[in-house]
Amino acid sequence: MKIGVPAETIENERRVALVPETVTRLIKAGHTVQIATGAGTASGFPDSLYSEAGASISTDSSAAVRDADIIVHVQPLDDDVLGAAKSGSILISMLNARTDAEGLQRLASAGLSGLAMELVPRIARAQRMDVLSSQASIAGYKSVLIGANMLGKYLPMMMTAAGTVPPAKVLVLGAGVAGLQAIATAKRLGARVEAYDVRAAVKEQVESLGGVFIQLPQSADAEAAGGYAREQTAEEQAAQRQMLADHVAASDIVITTAAIPGRPAPKLMTADMVAGMNAGTVIVDLAAESGGNCELTKAGEIVLTENGVRINGPVNVPSMVPNDASRLYSRNVSALLDLLIDKDGKVNLNFDDEIIAAMCVTHGGEVRFNS
Ligand code: NAI
Repeated sequence: MKIGVPAETIENERRVALVPETVTRLIKAGHTVQIATGAGTASGFPDSLYSEAGASISTDSSAAVRDADIIVHVQPLDDDVLGAAKSGSILISMLNARTDAEGLQRLASAGLSGLAMELVPRIARAQRMDVLSSQASIAGYKSVLIGANMLGKYLPMMMTAAGTVPPAKVLVLGAGVAGLQAIATAKRLGARVEAYDVRAAVKEQVESLGGVFIQLPQSADAEAAGGYAREQTAEEQAAQRQMLADHVAASDIVITTAAIPGRPAPKLMTADMVAGMNAGTVIVDLAAESGGNCELTKAGEIVLTENGVRINGPVNVPSMVPNDASRLYSRNVSALLDLLIDKDGKVNLNFDDEIIAAMCVTHGGEVRFNS
């Protein structure tokens, strides 16, 4: 198979879909890889490493995809590159399938079979391909570093000749993949960590990382299919906010990661709760791109409130750790290629396979995804 890797074009996207280690593996399996010049530079993988791994370097993205059977990318392709791709080829990429119906239509019209990386089903067999997990884990780690950099305090307890400094208090709201990694990172940095989630199963996981789990009295477990959370009722949300207000007020850094697939992020923090926080404290809202967990969050901005709280709503956080984020994304892609390419080296888009069926959003000129 000819595998093409165009460069990313979306602003602030520093990741690359295939790293040299994966290229070596693919070439060994008998495939060829052509990558646009400079595609890996921002993530620390210069052209020379791809050449050493056996890839050919294309003059630009259109040349990298022109005769490719399979195209791999991180973000949806721009129209020029899509126009250069051959009809019948396969695109493996994040495609924002739940929100970008027009993008899917363009992909279908160009005759590409699109496999949306964000739609990997949450089953054990698909874990190696799960980009939501690999990238969320990076985001959780980075969110703590962002918060620590903004906070004018130490995170660990410090015993100095000038006296003892108490540890910072970090509160993590939403303890899924990103939240658990945030807890682990904040603990490693020496902070005191509390966490809250609507899924009861999370309590044990938080405690195993050394965090204190905040439990709502008489709360119903909110675990839904695939390990995701269900949306909370208005009463549940009100009870949650009331109980969390004191914990929020006592925190130095609040990291929010709560999400419901395909829905706007739940609002866990009201303006009143933020007003109750101390000057100099920090909120890092990882849900900024899907509307934010805090009422005052603005995606891509740092908001300073009247009482001196800074609310950071970073976007595309995995891209801020582009080297390891690319390495993991590339391994996820590689695992999917293992499933797609049969023993004879041919693509087998087997719709009886639940992973392929769930991920394939366009095929044969048609959109086959219902959000
Ligand atoms: P996510 O990104 O959809 O949500 C993040 C967290 O927010 C979740 O823990 C969710 O329970 C929580 N949340 C939602 N609404 C909330 C609210 N109102 N208040 C507080 N917290 C709220 O989910 P993520 O992190 O991608 O995965 C969640 C879980 O799914 C994982 O912890 C794991 O148990 C399971 N999972 C299973 C996989 C597999 O079997 N292949 C792969 C990845 C995750």
